[in-house]
Amino acid sequence: MNIEKKLTALQVMQDAPVIPVIVLNDVAHAVPLARALVAGGIRMLEVTLRTEQALACIEAIARAVPDAVVGAGTVRSRSDAQAAAMAGARFAVSPGYTAALGLACRDVGLPLLPGVATGSEIMLAQEDGLTELKFFPAMQAGGTALLKAWSGPFFDVRFCPTGGVTLQNAPEFLALPNVVCVGGSWLVSPDALAQGDWARITALARATLALKK
Ligand code: 3PG
Repeated sequence: MNIEKKLTALQVMQDAPVIPVIVLNDVAHAVPLARALVAGGIRMLEVTLRTEQALACIEAIARAVPDAVVGAGTVRSRSDAQAAAMAGARFAVSPGYTAALGLACRDVGLPLLPGVATGSEIMLAQEDGLTELKFFPAMQAGGTALLKAWSGPFFDVRFCPTGGVTLQNAPEFLALPNVVCVGGSWLVSPDALAQGDWARITALARATLALKK
């Protein structure tokens, strides 16, 4: 896929079967990690705003790894959205949805994949024109059974289930027509990061490409 300067949420979801959820505590890990994931075929990288170093990591990846498309995860407020865009994030992912967050992301030009876990949350996101949503926390909130139930009333919504998704259960999610990709932290484990085991991360990324939608 040709990545345009201005992305859509659907493009973020369609690029690979998995969006890695990344937690970084050390800026020195950011660039080698991004390169390792890109080498394994994963370009859409969600760096969560959960650590003090997250924004610096986003900035480093945006500057040094042009083949990666770095986004910010755990975006919960207007100030998160602004800081993420300033750091060079190209998309935003949130654990929930508010109209204020939707507006903030639009204002700073970030496509948003908002987290939803109920029908009402889906309807709020749809009211604001969002039809590509993160289903979070996927396993805890109802897993594939809930996605199947939603496919009736929410036939026009596509999901990225995240939360408890693994290489083992990802195929069950990806087999559903209303699932475009999944999200998960398993690609980037804290110990692989600590050991600088970039080859392992590249291998895990490659393995996810076999999951094909
Ligand atoms: C998160 O935001 O932490 C994601 O949902 C990751 O969940 P996982 O660790 O279960 O993949």
